[in-house]
Parts: sequence; C-alpha cells; structure tokens
Amino acid sequence: MKPKFAQRIAAQANVHWATVGKLIQTKVAQGMDVIQISSGDPDLPTPRPVVETLREAVLDPTYHRYPFSFRTDIHQAVATWYQNRFGVTLDPASEVLMLAGSQEGIGHLGLAVMEPGAVAIVTDPAYGSYTRATQFAGGEVYLLPIHAEDGYLPQLAQIPADVLAKTRLLWLNYPNNPTGAIAPLSFFEEVVAFAKKHDLLVCHDNAYSDIAFDGYQAPSFLAVDGAKEVGVEINTLSKAFNMAGWRVGMAVGNAEVLAAMGAVHRNSSMGLFGPVQLAAIEALTGDQSWMEERNRIYQQRRDIVVEGLRSIGMQVEPPKATLYVWAKLPPGYDDSFAFAQWLLDETGVWISSGSFFGEGGREYMRATLTLPTARLEEAMARLQKVRL
Ligand SMILES: Cc1ncc(COP(=O)(O)O)c(C=O)c1O
Repeated sequence: MKPKFAQRIAAQANVHWATVGKLIQTKVAQGMDVIQISSGDPDLPTPRPVVETLREAVLDPTYHRYPFSFRTDIHQAVATWYQNRFGVTLDPASEVLMLAGSQEGIGHLGLAVMEPGAVAIVTDPAYGSYTRATQFAGGEVYLLPIHAEDGYLPQLAQIPADVLAKTRLLWLNYPNNPTGAIAPLSFFEEVVAFAKKHDLLVCHDNAYSDIAFDGYQAPSFLAVDGAKEVGVEINTLSKAFNMAGWRVGMAVGNAEVLAAMGAVHRNSSMGLFGPVQLAAIEALTGDQSWMEERNRIYQQRRDIVVEGLRSIGMQVEPPKATLYVWAKLPPGYDDSFAFAQWLLDETGVWISSGSFFGEGGREYMRATLTLPTARLEEAMARLQKVRL
C-alpha cells in the first residue's frame, strides 16, 4: 500500500530547517564546535516553586486519569494574571481558553476560522506558524510587507480592497518575532477601528509580552476599548515563565471565537496533565519578581550580541523586547542565507537567515539570546575575527 496524503501535508514540508539541520550536522561531524544562536527556547530555569508544585502533584493518582477538561481555577489564574499584569478584565468562564502551548492555539484558530476562499493577512517577515496554520486550514495568505522605517508596524491602508473583501483574519505579533519590534497601544487602537470597519477578526500573539528591557512594559491588545469585539490574544508560559517544555498557553478575548477554538481542541486533544495545570497556576499567581533579574540577564546578552554583530558591519537597533536581535547584513551583501552559511564556515557560529521568516527578511539575520552568556561572548569573539 502506498498511502495517499492530503495536499496540506505536502505544503507543510519545511525545506529550510531540513537544509539547516544537515549543514550543522555536517560541521559537527567534521569536529567543529558549532554555536547555534538561532532558537527561541529559553535556557534559564523554570521557577523552583513551579517545579515543586508539579513534583508533589504527580504522586496523586487522581491526575493519572483523563484530564477531560481544564480546571476552573486555571481559567481564574489567567484572568487574575491579565488583570494584574495588563489591566485587562476577563470573564474566566467564557473569555479564557487554555492551550497546550500557544502553537496549538495558532493552529486551532486557523482551523476554526479559515477555509478555501478565505484570506488571512500575515506580515512579511513573520513567525512562520501564521502562514502554515492558515494554509493547513485551506485558507489563502496575503503577505503584508513591514519595514524598518515604519518600526515594522504594518501599514493597514496599503491592503488592497479586493483582498480585504475576502479577509477573515489579521495575524499580529508585538513584541515581534523575528524583528524585535514593539507596538504602542495607539497602533492597537488603529487595528481595532480597522477591524470593525472591515469586519475582520484580529489575532494578536503576545508570546513575548514579558521579555522586555530598559524598563519597557508591553501592553495587551485587549487593553484597547472594543478589542474583545474583534479579537483574541494568544499568550504562553513558554517565554514569560521559562516553561517552553511544559506546553501551557492561553487564548483570551472574544468568547465566540474561543468557543470555536475549543471545539477544535475537543476533537483533536484532551486537556492537559493535571500537575502541569497546577504548576501553571503557581506560575501565574505566585511571586513574579524574579522576572526582573531574568530580563536583566537577557538584556546583558542583548548588549553583547548587538555589539558583536555591529563589529562585523551589521546594522542593529537594540530591541526593547523579545529574545531576538534583528540585524541588517553588512553593506554589499544581500542574501542572508548565503551569508549565514559563510559565517558558519568561517566561525562555526550559526545565526538564522532572515529569509526564513519571509522575503522581507532577505537582507537580515536573526540572532537569539537563549545561550549562556559566556557562550554568546565566545560566539561574538569569533565573529570579531572574521575578515569580510
Ligand atoms: C511569536 C511566537 N508565537 C508562538 C510561539 C510558540 O510558543 P509556544 O511554546 O507557546 O507554543 C513562538 C515560539 O517561538 C513564537 O515565537
């Protein structure tokens, strides 16, 4: 038997990662000490009380049976966190949906909203999952370029009327992966008015809300009056709480949209392991003053990376948030994938090419801050020795 696959599977093949994986494997096999500055996977530890909560709960056999639904108090914990952190009031029963990581929510929102003939707007460059979730559900993507000179905020007036007529969903993400850009609340106000005018849904991905530097505090999209009427916000414990491996995220906002996403979840998954839910409640409601020191470490790493990239002629604006440093190639270079491979050959340092995030990233590289500081320092010292 030769299995036949749905078109959506062929469309998902991620050629870039396969190529990069092989490149790096080859170098390692040749004995090179490769430093990969390319993943957004936090290396700093999950807070101890969160780990202890799981450790105790795992012994309770009640949790070894199906977690048919999410706990009521985890919805309350998210509502409390949103109130305290963002000043946003949520009804825990209808305006909070728990997710097994925000990646699940992105996929499930695509399935809940998109279908053939419907368009979703995605910025170029962007985190790749918005395009994939849209296409996986049979929808079409309209790529809206974002530029350094606009602070990487989309110019909504540039979307053609015939595209808007078919658009159901606008994906946004600030603080932004990959550019590190941030959005003021006034931009979200503009988005809410635009969404109301054109009758479309907004999904704001706030995954990096709590990785911020220089005193910056990222707002929630839902802090704008009327945002709940047109949108949902996705958030996650992966980055804010150093809990990427635990797989806990949430979607909040428009109750009808969350109910539709919940229907997708119920048909493809079944809650989340009870001790993980308890640990998430501890994270969301426990002491969070530790984040300040964590962000200070990231900020120190940011400064090391910015200086190192500038030393080889790259143009870099230090980001106010996220785990990413977005850097323009040195003058005379315009192909970031070729440049990334050359840098790997010369130094053993792998930095993602911006082209992985869209054509708009062709002249950029995305470095990350998730390596021990000493290792990042070593990577930057290697860069400083290269001759362009
Ligand atoms: C913008 C953005 N959204 C969502 C995710 C997925 O995070 P999670 O661990 O919550 O699935 C990532 C991961 O890197 C991301 O960069």
